[in-house]
Amino acid sequence: MKEILNNYKVLVDDFIERLSLQRIFPPLFNEALFYTPKSGGKRIRAMLVMLAASMFNANMEDAVYVAGAIELLHAYSLIHDDLPAMDNDDFRRGKPSNHKVFSEALAILAGDGLNTYAFNIILNSNLSDEKKVNVAKILSDNAGIGGMVTGQAADILSSEKQLSQYKDKFLVNFIHKHKTAKLLQASVVCGALCGNPSVSELEKIKKYGLYSGVAFQIIDDCLDVVGDEKKMGKKRVDDINDTLTYPKVYGLNKSYELADKLKDMAVEQVENLKNSGGLIEIAKLIIERDR
Ligand code: IPE
Ligand code: IPE
Ligand code: MG
Ligand code: MG
Ligand code: MG
Repeated sequence: MKEILNNYKVLVDDFIERLSLQRIFPPLFNEALFYTPKSGGKRIRAMLVMLAASMFNANMEDAVYVAGAIELLHAYSLIHDDLPAMDNDDFRRGKPSNHKVFSEALAILAGDGLNTYAFNIILNSNLSDEKKVNVAKILSDNAGIGGMVTGQAADILSSEKQLSQYKDKFLVNFIHKHKTAKLLQASVVCGALCGNPSVSELEKIKKYGLYSGVAFQIIDDCLDVVGDEKKMGKKRVDDINDTLTYPKVYGLNKSYELADKLKDMAVEQVENLKNSGGLIEIAKLIIERDR
C-alpha cells in the first residue's frame, strides 16, 4: 500500500511540475503561483482523490487532474492562512511562507490565482461533462462558503473573541468541520465521482471524508502542542494567535481519544466497500502522523 500511495504522490507531483513549466507574465508572479504548490506537502488530499477514484473504476489519467487541482486549491488555502492578517505564519513546508518570499500582495494574488485555476484544470480535463459538473459542484461548495472559507472566517472571528456567545465545543467542531474536513471530504467524494459509485456508496464515502477530516484537524491541533517544528515544517502558532483548538477545549489526551474514535467511525463506513484498504490506511495515517 505504501508503494501505491507513493506512486500517486509522484503522479500528482509530476502533474503540478508540468503545470509550472508554462510561462506566465510577469515571471515573479509565475514564481509566486507555484512556489507553495511545489514546496512539498504530504499530498493527503491527492491520495484521497486517487484512492477513491480507483475504487469506482475511474480513468486514473483523468483523476490526476482532479487530484492536482485540489492540491493547488489546498495550497491557496495555506498561502492565505499564513498571511499576517490571518495566522501570521512565517514558515510553511519547511520554507519561508509565500508572503515572506514574495510580498503580501503577490501571495494574495497567488492564492486567488490557484483557487480559480483549480476549477479551470478540472473543466479542461477529459472527464465527461456530467462528471465535471458533479466534481465542480462539490468542490466549489466544500472549498468555499459551504466549507473551508467559512471555517476560516469562524476560526478568525473566534480567535478575535467575536463569537464568545457560542459554546466552545460547538464552535471548535464547526470550525474544524468547515475549515479542514470539508476539503478532505471533497477530495474523496470528487475522486469517487470520477468513477461510478452508487448513491449508497457515495454516502459512505462522504461520511468517511467528514470523520477523517475532523480527525485530521484535531491531530493538526495536537501537533501544534507537541509536534517537532522541524518535522512539521511549520511553527507552533495556535497559542500566539489564541486559535480555538481541540486541546484547548478538551485537553490533549481527550483530543487524541476523540480523533481515534473518529478514525474508527471513518473506517467503519468504508470497510465493507471493495478495495477500501487504501482509505483505511489513510485514516490510520492521519492519526499516527508526526507532521
Ligand atoms: C495543513 O494541511 C492545513 C490543514 C488543514 C491542517 P496539511 O497538513 O495536509 O499540509 P501539507 O499539504 O502536508 O503541507
Ligand atoms: C488549517 O488550519 C486551515 C486551512 C484551511 C489552511 P491551521 O491554521 O491550523 O493550519 P496550519 O497549522 O497553519 O497548517
Ligand atoms: Mg489557521
Ligand atoms: Mg495556520
Ligand atoms: Mg494548525
